[in-house]
Amino acid sequence: MRTLGFIGTGNMGSALAEAAAKNPDNRLLLANRGKQKAEALKEKIGGTVTDNRGAAEADFIFLGVKPQMLQEVTPELSEALRSRITPFTLISMAAVTSIAKIRELLGFSCPVIRIMPNTPVAVGEGVILYACSDGVTPETEREFLCAMSAAGRFLKVEERLIDAGACISGCGPAFVDLFIEAMADGGVACGLPRALALELAAATVSGSSKLMLETGKHPAQLKDEVCSPGGTTIQGVRALEKGGLRSAVMEAVIAAFHK
Ligand SMILES: NC(=O)c1ccc[n+]([C@@H]2O[C@H](COP(=O)([O-])OP(=O)(O)OC[C@H]3O[C@@H](n4cnc5c(N)ncnc54)[C@H](OP(=O)(O)O)[C@@H]3O)[C@@H](O)[C@H]2O)c1
Repeated sequence: MRTLGFIGTGNMGSALAEAAAKNPDNRLLLANRGKQKAEALKEKIGGTVTDNRGAAEADFIFLGVKPQMLQEVTPELSEALRSRITPFTLISMAAVTSIAKIRELLGFSCPVIRIMPNTPVAVGEGVILYACSDGVTPETEREFLCAMSAAGRFLKVEERLIDAGACISGCGPAFVDLFIEAMADGGVACGLPRALALELAAATVSGSSKLMLETGKHPAQLKDEVCSPGGTTIQGVRALEKGGLRSAVMEAVIAAFHK
């Protein structure tokens, strides 16, 4: 049995807590500025509602407040953590906030796992980039991955790559949503009912991704396999190339990175 404390049960904090709740070995401590949110989450997934200090008693403490709120939370958190006698690991999900910055705000160097989750965590299909600070032992890392396995796919990277990676996995859901919506619009223009067109488009994106990840084939190969000579698909590919799809998608990732 391990305890996971969540400070901030907003969109991402609650999605991660919900994934954690699927593992019966996890005991959840839920804290939020407005207690109602934590209470509502408890009704849904179980656990115990507490305050920030209470959540800071957990083995893994998830910081789920917005980056601009960190300065408000860290003094109290620092005090609570300094008085700990049992080991703990801080899990920071704050975008564009380095492990060094978290430690600077706390005023001391505790073990930190920096994660960058994305919204599909809510359905157990997230991508979670993560990097470990010094002081995070291989056992702690294994324990963390085991505790959170229901959230999705965990990819360990060097911390310096997290921001660029987040421009694909963090921003990507919005880019993919646009693509799905556009494909469905095309279907509606061809006479399909909207709901059917959306389901077809979304399931096609999901299935194509799975096919690529499970076969390990390059997307160009998979595309070639669908395009028969003189067929219909290659005509669609031609239209996408003419519309600059590749360039637009690359620019989207780069624009997000520059921001
Ligand atoms: N959403 C995403 O797709 C995503 C992706 C990757 C990383 N992240 C990261 O996840 C973190 C949370 O983002 P979010 O989108 O989940 O934001 P959010 O929905 O606004 O959640 C933040 C939560 O923190 C609570 N909070 C604020 N100050 C607090 C305090 N002093 N003590 C306890 N709780 C406090 C807020 O409570 P109130 O309801 O009372 O305001 C709110 O429920 C951010 O660092 C963000 O960078 C988010």
